[in-house]
Amino acid sequence: MRALTWHGKHDVRVDSVPDPRIVNPRDAIVEITSTAICGSDLHLYDHYIPTLKAGDILGHEFMGIVAEVGPGNRKLKVGQRVVVPFVIACGQCFFCQKQQYSACDNSNPAETADMSETLYGYPMTGAFGYAHLTGGYAGGQAEYVRVPFSDVGPIVIPDGVEDERVLFLSDILPTGWMAALNCDIEPGDTVAVWGCGPVGLFAIQSAFVQGAHRVIAIDHYPHRLDLAKELGAEVINYEEVHVREALVEMTGGLGPDACIDAVGMESHGVTPDNLYDHAKAAVALVTDRPHALRQLILACRKGGRISVPGVYGGVVDKFPLGALMEKGLQVKTGQTHVQRFSHELLKLILEDKIDTTFLISHRMSLEEAPQGYKLFKERQNETTKVVLKPKQAPASVH
Ligand SMILES: NC(=O)c1ccc[n+]([C@@H]2O[C@H](COP(=O)([O-])OP(=O)(O)OC[C@H]3O[C@@H](n4cnc5c(N)ncnc54)[C@H](O)[C@@H]3O)[C@@H](O)[C@H]2O)c1
Ligand SMILES: [Zn+2]
Ligand SMILES: [Zn+2]
Repeated sequence: MRALTWHGKHDVRVDSVPDPRIVNPRDAIVEITSTAICGSDLHLYDHYIPTLKAGDILGHEFMGIVAEVGPGNRKLKVGQRVVVPFVIACGQCFFCQKQQYSACDNSNPAETADMSETLYGYPMTGAFGYAHLTGGYAGGQAEYVRVPFSDVGPIVIPDGVEDERVLFLSDILPTGWMAALNCDIEPGDTVAVWGCGPVGLFAIQSAFVQGAHRVIAIDHYPHRLDLAKELGAEVINYEEVHVREALVEMTGGLGPDACIDAVGMESHGVTPDNLYDHAKAAVALVTDRPHALRQLILACRKGGRISVPGVYGGVVDKFPLGALMEKGLQVKTGQTHVQRFSHELLKLILEDKIDTTFLISHRMSLEEAPQGYKLFKERQNETTKVVLKPKQAPASVH
């Protein structure tokens, strides 16, 4: 089959690779109909995440048609359309029982789990297409994918519902939703969201659905800020105004009640702390550039809440721990427990209470995926989301 494979920093290619096959009884094979490129894929593209190997198949946002089902799965049927969560979870361990699916203890094989245990104290949970730290599973930017524990993760989509309405149930919609839930929104709250990429935009949308009174969105790309405005947010362009001063002014001196970091480890901006992070990261003294996170800890009101869906990988410097503690801030973060939210969010989509299709700026064939990565990396203003259609020929997709 054809698949998008990683070969090094900014080098991804579409290659012919062996077809996946059922390995364990609970596996299924899914034929991909739509798959998307995520901000998290850019961390791989930029080689910020260790343990990738040349030839690894990327992609963790995908859906398709069940092509084959292992003998241990009595739930899925061949021919069903499913969206597959990016988190691979067994459904049975201590964590899965608590619906903390992104902490599942059974989905990262021992050889690779040991590696993440050394880094984080506990092994990471398995995920599709996301380096060998998370199990080394082949991803879904391909014609077919093997889905382990396929009786737990995939959610069946009713006939007649187009792929694009539900594709983002795989990751960014539940991620935006959990980011907002982690703010414990109260009536009258003002929520500030750093980053108007897909995760930030869905966090804005979710914050309103969950009852936020006001949402203030921060970014520097005019088009992404316009999308935030269309969702009802007030906006701050951090290249034009001082973010903290603007937030103080907009909130009558208090600061936002809750702040969401939808930026993650590759913060932009030419502030002294960010330049310092760049220099230290270049010589491997730090791994992440948390400028936005520092800024939002300082901007949040006293006693406020901080939610961090943005991905961080390692250690950082100049972290304002004093401000965090002295202001009495609460912090919630984590990879998304996707499976916990699938049914609730599918229902909201089918009731037309959430529409995510506005986000898609580019539709491409799988063969054009390297171009999609380049656009999503280099032309972020207008490239808000790239969807790949592996079953369609290059010329037929626009
Ligand atoms: N927790 C999870 O399970 C999960 C799931 C999906 C994505 N993520 C992470 O969420 C983050 C966002 O993902 P995305 O797909 O929206 O990525 P993206 O790269 O498309 O968007 C990031 C946005 O942040 C903006 N930004 C950069 N520096 C900023 C700053 N200093 N202040 C304000 N905005 C700034 C950028 O201009 C960009 O628009 C990434 O770190 C991604 O890895 C986490
Ligand atoms: Zn993703
Ligand atoms: Zn589990």
